[in-house]
Amino acid sequence: MLNTEYNLLDCPVRDQIVACYSWSKTCGISLAIIWLSVAHTSFAQMIEFQHVFKSFGRGRNILADVNFRIGPGEFIFVSGPSGAGKSTLLKLVGGLEPPSRGGVTVNGHRIDRLAARARPYLRRTVGLILQDAHLLFDRNAIDNVLLPLAVIGLDRATAGARARAAMEKVGLRGKEDLNPVEMSGGEQQRLAIARAIVGRPAILIADEPTANLDDTSARHIMDVFRDFNQVGVTTLIASHDTRLMARYAQRTLHLDAGRFNDIPGVPE
Ligand SMILES: Nc1ncnc2c1ncn2[C@@H]1O[C@H](COP(=O)(O)OP(=O)(O)OP(=O)(O)O)[C@@H](O)[C@H]1O
Ligand SMILES: [Mg+2]
Repeated sequence: MLNTEYNLLDCPVRDQIVACYSWSKTCGISLAIIWLSVAHTSFAQMIEFQHVFKSFGRGRNILADVNFRIGPGEFIFVSGPSGAGKSTLLKLVGGLEPPSRGGVTVNGHRIDRLAARARPYLRRTVGLILQDAHLLFDRNAIDNVLLPLAVIGLDRATAGARARAAMEKVGLRGKEDLNPVEMSGGEQQRLAIARAIVGRPAILIADEPTANLDDTSARHIMDVFRDFNQVGVTTLIASHDTRLMARYAQRTLHLDAGRFNDIPGVPE
């Protein structure tokens, strides 16, 4: 059920299509051009790795010559044993780590070359849920969720309504005034998810988002990701739970001891 204050259909891809249509109408340009623009929106790559290498200091290559392209609206499972580099790969997409070599392109921008002043753009485009929730304990739950909206410059009433709706979406209604320290591990993880989705990013990246959750809550959270994915949000999720991910993901990026495999579906 969609919440009217937090309409999932207000997704970035739809916004682009609507903007393209109104612009064309204003300029009196034909439907063919509208179609071409929409097609461009649909077929453009959202994420591209070109010959990416990543090592820390003088250590071994965690990623070695990794190449892949992810289109808009794909649902990707990032798999592999502990220490294989799943979090590292997600951090490269989120711009939290630079590649040691190679190109990382996100929504048409080479983020390894992005100037520091362009970082807020990346924060708006990519919603990140990291392995540690990185919540701020000097403020209550709803203020944590409001943080990404501060950079967009929304008025207080709209921002407040969107933050409450995002909390409701992850099952945290009524917990708005709690300090994160008063919340369980699973609730903190769901709070981090609310903070990532509140800005309606084009890409959602989640690192083990169901690790602290029971089966029912894990399914509920995965359904939240699926709702966003179904309205065009590109979704990448690292997890050890292959059985759960098989219900949602269409493709797997598998890492293991420096080897990288791009696999359709989710292997057993
Ligand atoms: N900042 C860092 N400095 C040095 N080494 C690092 C750093 N971050 C990650 N590593 C190393 O890179 C390797 C891959 O780590 P990463 O966290 O990406 O693995 P992972 O697949 O996410 O594992 P897990 O399933 O346990 O979360 C590990 O050997 C780790 O020690
Ligand atoms: Mg990890």
